[in-house]
Amino acid sequence: MKDNRFGPAPGDGAVAGQGELWTRDGFNGTCSMVLRPHYAPAYLSAHGPHAPRHFQLDKLAMSHGDDALAMPVPVASSRKGVQLSAALQDQEAPIVVRNVEADELHFVHRGEVRFETDCGVLDAQAGDFVCIPRSVAYRTTPQGGPAWRFIVESPSPLRLNPQTPSGMINFARDVHYARVEPQQDDHAPTEVTLVLKAEDGPTVFRLAQDPLRAVAHVYGNVPVWKVNLANVQVGTYLPHGGPPFQFITSDDGEIMIYTLCARTTQRPPIHVNADFDEVILYHAGPGAWGDVSEPGTVSWVPKGVIHQGPSEDVPQGYQAWLLETRPTLRLTPVALEASALLDTREYGIHPSELAMQR
Ligand SMILES: [Fe+2]
Repeated sequence: MKDNRFGPAPGDGAVAGQGELWTRDGFNGTCSMVLRPHYAPAYLSAHGPHAPRHFQLDKLAMSHGDDALAMPVPVASSRKGVQLSAALQDQEAPIVVRNVEADELHFVHRGEVRFETDCGVLDAQAGDFVCIPRSVAYRTTPQGGPAWRFIVESPSPLRLNPQTPSGMINFARDVHYARVEPQQDDHAPTEVTLVLKAEDGPTVFRLAQDPLRAVAHVYGNVPVWKVNLANVQVGTYLPHGGPPFQFITSDDGEIMIYTLCARTTQRPPIHVNADFDEVILYHAGPGAWGDVSEPGTVSWVPKGVIHQGPSEDVPQGYQAWLLETRPTLRLTPVALEASALLDTREYGIHPSELAMQR
């Protein structure tokens, strides 16, 4: 396919039109394509809450000020409870958290994090997704240096649900569950703060014991699990490629998560996602994904915004993932402050903002 990043060249009379694809239900519903004489993702400027933007995690103002609870910093929210947050942590969290509204999916972008939970301990490395379902309490402790997490909250249960029933994830090898660790009985009682996180704010309990201490797990399935992005196989339909493959979904269909790591495929079509906002986290190189080469770059294209996106066929390789969320997101002031308008062709900074920066 011709690289139409900049649209038809002057005098290129052979270009009859460029397809613009409208799709329902992510990549799974009805669709319609129209040929246009112009390159549709190009725009001169955009103002308002529904404009595509991107930001880098390490550009966020993560200062907690006098917030002793040191909760993650929300970067995007919706009216239906789906929320995105970022956390930069360099020491043990001073609190135990139990989210009573949502499942939490913690993506460890950088560093290593120990998750002590109601049902055992899980040590996570960079690239791991850690799922902590609703009302499971946990405490996080970075191991050996600062750690970044990017957190997706879903009111509907999240589960590993790979698009292909076998081959995409080796469940026996690569999915790990929290385990209760033997503990010393002579552990001195210490006061612990437990925060129940609800829609209208935190409720703080003071406890005379650590609520996470356990003797054994004796019944049922352990609901806390992890899988690493690098161990989720990419999929493609040769020779053309097709959409990326999803591997985590919410039970209500409001959230889908895909691997967007490098793969053999054609560049995405120019398209309008009718029903889902798209959030992409570029986790690691070495290859660049279009104009994105900084690990920790988060791109957000709200539903209904025409975009194409870079080629995923990058021989040097890179790691990224895509969140599709049916609830419309809005960036928080912290994220807006760190963000720039997004060029929906190659996902760099939009030329109108580059012009202002000069
Ligand atoms: Fe898209």
